[in-house]
Amino acid sequence: MLENYIQEILISEEEITNKVKELGRQISNDYGDDQQLIVVGILKGAIIFLSDLVREIKLPIALDFMAVSSYGSSTESSGAVRILKDLERDVENKHVLIVEDIVDTGLTLKYLLDNLWSRKPASVKTCTLLDKPSRRLVDVTVDYNGFSIPDKFVVGYGLDFAENYRNLPYIAILKPEAYE
Ligand code: IMP
Ligand code: MG
Repeated sequence: MLENYIQEILISEEEITNKVKELGRQISNDYGDDQQLIVVGILKGAIIFLSDLVREIKLPIALDFMAVSSYGSSTESSGAVRILKDLERDVENKHVLIVEDIVDTGLTLKYLLDNLWSRKPASVKTCTLLDKPSRRLVDVTVDYNGFSIPDKFVVGYGLDFAENYRNLPYIAILKPEAYE
C-alpha cells in the first residue's frame, strides 16, 4: 500500500481544504469580474491543487497549462529550465495567475515569470500551495501562498517522488526506505 511508505502527515486533507477555500476567496476579491484571468497550471505537480482551487474562484477564468522540466535529479533542481509544453493561447493584455505546487529554490518560478512577462500580459501573479523559503536561491514574489514548510522533501496532493505519491490526498514526508 502507498501509505506504508509514509513517515508523517505534514498537512492534512482538512487543512488543505480550508486553505484552498481561503486562497480562492482572496483571489476572487483581488481580481475584478471584467478582468480576463488566465489561470496557468504548471504540470504535473499543480493539477490537484489547481482543480480544487479554481472551484473556489468565483470569477470567469480560462485555464491553460505549461509543463517545464528542471534538469537535475528528482529531488534537486539544477536551475536550467526547459519548456516541455507551452500555453495554447496568447496572453497578451490578459491577467495571468501561475499556479505551482511548491516553490523551492525559486528557479522554476523565476524562469516562468520572466518568460510570461515577455509575452506582454496585463499582469502576472503567482500562487503556490507550498513554499520552502529557507531554500530560496533567487528572489521571486509569491502573491498567494498556502503553507510555508521546513526544508523537507514532501509528497502528495500532486507532488511526487519519481512520479509516485501524487494521488495521496494530503502532504506527507516519506520513510527513508521509500527512497531505496
Ligand atoms: P524550484 O525550481 O527549486 O523552486 O523547484 C520547483 C519544483 O521542484 C517544484 O515544482 C517541484 O516539482 C519540485 N520540488 C521541489 N521541492 C519538492 C518537494 O519537496 N517535493 C516534491 N517536489 C519538489
Ligand atoms: Mg516535480
